[in-house]
Amino acid sequence: MLPALILAGSLLRLTLLVDACVTAPATPEANTTFTDNTVFIPDADYTSWKTIYGRSLQLPDDSLLMTWEDYPPEPPLVYFPIYRSIDGGATWSEYSRVQDTQNDWGLRFQPFLYELQNSWGSYAAGTILAAGVSTPANLSGAYIELYASTDSARTWTFVSHIAYGEGPELVTNGDKAIWEPFLLEYGDAFVCFFSDQRDSAHAQKLVAVTTSDLVNWSDDFDVVAYSEYDDRPGMAVVAHIQSTDNYILTYECCGSENCQAYYKVSSSPLTFNSTTGVPILSNDTSKTAPVGSPYVIWTSRPDRVDGSGMIIMNAASNSEVFINEDSAGQDGWKMVDINQWSAYSRSLRIIDDAGESRLFLGAGGNMVSDSSCNWVSCGVVGLSDLV
Ligand SMILES: *[C@@H]1O[C@H](CO)[C@@H](O)[C@H](O)[C@H]1NC(C)=O
Ligand SMILES: *[C@@H]1O[C@H](CO)[C@@H](O)[C@H](O)[C@H]1NC(C)=O
Ligand SMILES: *[C@@H]1O[C@H](CO)[C@@H](O)[C@H](O)[C@H]1NC(C)=O
Ligand SMILES: *[C@@H]1O[C@H](CO)[C@@H](O)[C@H](O)[C@H]1NC(C)=O
Ligand SMILES: *[C@@H]1O[C@H](CO)[C@@H](O)[C@H](O)[C@H]1NC(C)=O
Repeated sequence: MLPALILAGSLLRLTLLVDACVTAPATPEANTTFTDNTVFIPDADYTSWKTIYGRSLQLPDDSLLMTWEDYPPEPPLVYFPIYRSIDGGATWSEYSRVQDTQNDWGLRFQPFLYELQNSWGSYAAGTILAAGVSTPANLSGAYIELYASTDSARTWTFVSHIAYGEGPELVTNGDKAIWEPFLLEYGDAFVCFFSDQRDSAHAQKLVAVTTSDLVNWSDDFDVVAYSEYDDRPGMAVVAHIQSTDNYILTYECCGSENCQAYYKVSSSPLTFNSTTGVPILSNDTSKTAPVGSPYVIWTSRPDRVDGSGMIIMNAASNSEVFINEDSAGQDGWKMVDINQWSAYSRSLRIIDDAGESRLFLGAGGNMVSDSSCNWVSCGVVGLSDLV
């Protein structure tokens, strides 16, 4: 059974909010700004949502990578495609595939790409990691898996199982499912945040596990857990605010809050559970609430010399991004239209674009009942257009 058949009410609600089909404009010039540019268009025989959940990475040679949940007909088993651009996201081609070598299930849900900043165990700084959910087509159980590439994302080898859920890998309360890994280095801890339905006290909560060698993972600990059983905090993304040395976590609060985006700020990414989450609302008169699959990053600001920067977040409900000062005040979320297709878990990244620092948006499409117009797109936006 495909999860498309059992969309939760909160997700269906999103179908009313997201954009209709967006068509790709002409290919842009290399190393320029643009939006809704084509990364990949699925064939007509693609199943389920065709493509969703776009994730990106920039390598030290300035090339850009993208991956996403990819739903061609099976067999063969699904995998995470890696596409590459060497012209600032203007043109893309297939580069490699992260394939399940462990379970004979495929790599199906929520990929995430990460470049190691330090060495961990036998993995040197510069190693490229790919995490994501491996689950069979019948969704009978799931691992969050870690794969590594030591040749700049050309080839991939299995590293470890980060977590296991006995299934079914479905969003029904009570199913022992796990979702949406997010990786972060913090001091002597390498951290993986993920969504967890395995605790019988919570329909879903956010947890994290740590490791010092990428192989041997700790027990999980709470990141966001609500006392109301039906609440489903999900989709953790964390960013480091350099100027304050704080960490910001965004998550969707499904259940009583209808997947509205919330955030927490903490001096350590390991202690979010002891801080209280608050909703994000734009600070103009519309008081717009971003809803569903939030993503957050921090960047320094080229127009300032004091080291302060900006927090940038977005969610599936809006094509706009929401910008805040480093203080992350609840009344500081400024909504800015950047004219890039909104998407189910549109990812954000600051890239070096031929010497200029710019915002890269990676989008796979939306989790809607008619996903016929889903395709993988990207946008590159100047930071001066955000402030
Ligand atoms: C689900 O699929 C897996 C992998 O193909 C298989 O091992 C398992 O027996 C199946 N489970 C059910 C309940 O059909
Ligand atoms: C795994 O980590 C735990 C706690 O950090 C440690 O006690 C244990 O010895 C480690 N096991 C291996 C095989 O490294
Ligand atoms: C996390 O916080 C929740 C309430 O906010 C609490 O119920 C739970 O016990 C906490 N978890 C841990 C491990 O402290
Ligand atoms: C909204 O927040 C921004 C900071 O992100 C601030 O500059 C602006 O003045 C705020 N707008 C209002 C109406 O409060
Ligand atoms: C675009 O930038 C990349 C490096 O970021 C460079 O290799 C390439 O030559 C540039 N292309 C053009 C057409 O300027």
